[in-house]
Amino acid sequence: MMNSSIGSPEFADSFMVEKLSEFGLAVRYVRAQGNTLYYLADDGTEVGVLDGVSGFGSLMFGHNNPEIVEHAKWVLDQQTPVHAQMGGYSFALNLAAELNAIVRRELGTEDKFYAQFGNTGAEAVEIAIKHAELDRVIRIAGLKGGIEANLGQARTAVAGGATLTEAAAAVAGGTDIDRLVAEVSRRNAEVEARPPLFLALEGGFHGKLVGSLQLTYNQMLRGPFKALAAQARFVPRDQPHMIAKVMEQERAALLDVVVEDGVVDVVERDFPVFTAFVVEPIMGEAGIFPLSAELAGALREACDAFGVPLISDEVQSGMGRAGTFLAGTRIGLRPDYIVLAKALGGGIAKLGVVLINERLYHKEFEFMHSSTFAKDGFSTRLALKVLQLLEADGGKAYELAAERGAKAKAMMEAIKADYPEIVREVRGEGLMLGFEFHDQSGSEFPAVREMHQAVPLLILGHMLKKHRFRIARTASGPWTMRFEPSIFLSDDEIAVVDVAFRDVCEILRSGDLSRFV
Ligand SMILES: Cc1ncc(COP(=O)(O)O)c(C=O)c1O
Repeated sequence: MMNSSIGSPEFADSFMVEKLSEFGLAVRYVRAQGNTLYYLADDGTEVGVLDGVSGFGSLMFGHNNPEIVEHAKWVLDQQTPVHAQMGGYSFALNLAAELNAIVRRELGTEDKFYAQFGNTGAEAVEIAIKHAELDRVIRIAGLKGGIEANLGQARTAVAGGATLTEAAAAVAGGTDIDRLVAEVSRRNAEVEARPPLFLALEGGFHGKLVGSLQLTYNQMLRGPFKALAAQARFVPRDQPHMIAKVMEQERAALLDVVVEDGVVDVVERDFPVFTAFVVEPIMGEAGIFPLSAELAGALREACDAFGVPLISDEVQSGMGRAGTFLAGTRIGLRPDYIVLAKALGGGIAKLGVVLINERLYHKEFEFMHSSTFAKDGFSTRLALKVLQLLEADGGKAYELAAERGAKAKAMMEAIKADYPEIVREVRGEGLMLGFEFHDQSGSEFPAVREMHQAVPLLILGHMLKKHRFRIARTASGPWTMRFEPSIFLSDDEIAVVDVAFRDVCEILRSGDLSRFV
């Protein structure tokens, strides 16, 4: 017999439900439409809640968007082959072509981007870093092959009477070519044994799978799993000059030999230490921080100078949320890889994709990477519909994201102006907004100081219960509330948020936490 207590946290989410319950946040939603989630009150009636969490940014077109739902039904009615692995032609190819058209237009390039599909954001990030590592390994193999050939040539040259330069003799510890070859090989083996290194930004979030987690800055999430994957070195987002500096600090070289005019000399060749630099153009979980154009420029310059592929993680910021298809376009970011997921599936299908610039693409990767549901017919046909909705009417959806976002941001800025001691900053672009309260650990009210760690959750619970407004804080910025509704955000819904935030500000100003529901 099936257990009838469906939804009991006995077998899953027991800890989460317990914690959320403490603040009245454990609610079972039974229906979702537009920007509203519904739960059932005790008397069985539906209660609507304005959803600012929006599937952590997945719902550009709202919950169960009627056009997307209708399309999903149509896709199933067509008996679309969801699975046709190893068949060659799938709807994923159409999707890759459509993505190319949009991305090329935004980046103003004729470059081609090859698509690799996955199921989630973290998975797509891992596909990107896996491909980048293949690229690094191939570059290392090329470098090593060249050095080995040069060492062979040097032996032949010495047998024919060539001599070692002083520098070469210093490396060899003498003038013997065999000792030089052995020493060069030994030193190179040491450099080659270095594990690959990633570069990422402090505060960044790139997923919670084993590999992507090491690019995610949050120590609580990343720390325990460090031993499982390659590590990242993190760079502050507000210090563009540090990017090249860190690359310089970590750089390494292999030794090579050259024979010229009867002498064998030793030279250095740059060793590809870094697999990739991974960034979010708008850092979501850090607390909604848009990167600066200066940083975007410094990233491209340093990545070019040191031969490091640049991966732009647009999992949360992309798909039009910032008012352009890619948030990076707004700051002139020129990535080699683009990662998309979340909103790509229209809030219904799960898929992620990596777009890889043809200059770096290795075709054999198509055999080296796969996943059963990647490229599935249902998800990719839904994603095609999502792109159609984004691009319709000359890109009206992008305009709406920018316009609705600007209106919501202006509302938040006005609250900040009225409560400067309570609201620290309002940040973001389009419909990826952050509303940051001042950290209350230094509050003038002893009760607030004592309770400061619980205050953000008290705020969330209060807004949910009193204002029927649901919002989440960012994973690594506990005082920042993220607001990522759909493009159909109405003026009335903005007014709900206005009233809710102002009420919270009043309570924090009074220092009387008992006023929180
Ligand atoms: C920028 C970014 N990258 C990657 C991810 C991971 O995506 P997923 O949760 O689909 O694995 C997220 C999720 O929030 C994200 O915001």
